[in-house]
Amino acid sequence: MTDFRLSLKKVFYTTGNVWIESFIFDGHYTQKNETRDLRELCALGLLASHVKGGKIFEFGTFIGRTTRLLALNAGLKSEVYTIDLQQDLVDHEIGQEFKESPENAQICQLLGDSVRYDFSDFSNTIDFCWIDGAHDFEHCWSDTKYALMMVKAGGFIAWHDYRHTAWWSGVTKAVRLANRLFGGGVRHIAGTTMAILHVETRNKDLAKEANKGVPTL
Ligand SMILES: C[S@@+](CC[C@H](N)C(=O)[O-])C[C@H]1O[C@@H](n2cnc3c(N)ncnc32)[C@H](O)[C@@H]1O
Repeated sequence: MTDFRLSLKKVFYTTGNVWIESFIFDGHYTQKNETRDLRELCALGLLASHVKGGKIFEFGTFIGRTTRLLALNAGLKSEVYTIDLQQDLVDHEIGQEFKESPENAQICQLLGDSVRYDFSDFSNTIDFCWIDGAHDFEHCWSDTKYALMMVKAGGFIAWHDYRHTAWWSGVTKAVRLANRLFGGGVRHIAGTTMAILHVETRNKDLAKEANKGVPTL
């Protein structure tokens, strides 16, 4: 796709205020191209603040840092759903960063393989879907298809690690495919590895189209 970089200001016409708790810094926020990167945290916080009081879905909880950031910025009335693999399949403690935090009350932790999980209860209910689970193409595309099913008209889908490195090129491929389905509507947020789609009208046909399988690239 044309690499049309967009500043967040252009997406939302404002830069807004973002809450980033000191827990996120933890001494390693300067690493580039991770959600530990300050620009990425700010961009994600701003996206969450844009859906204040809404419902957010996150693929890839990991230790729960971004989950907490999302809840913090979307406000007390928001609900954040987050999915990761079963605890016994991973080395990290899933969600450890939010479990003892005030935001825990807003967070609903789901466990399971996102490719096999039944997301039907979330259909057409989500305001913002953050995709940061498995980074190979098959998983990222599957998460993208579920995101298309879940997000309401007017909502957003954002991907992490778009154009990160060749190692994670599966994400880039999935984002480009989504861009093709949405007629060029996906934007790369300048200075980050985040891409964003504003789902202006929920198009059931496109969601169905995405579910048919992978079109030729
Ligand atoms: C890059 S990390 C998420 C990072 C987190 N969003 C953050 O910035 O703090 C990716 C996570 O996806 C999880 N994951 C990998 N494959 C998955 C799958 N098939 N279903 C659900 N989660 C998966 C991993 O266990 C890992 O915790």
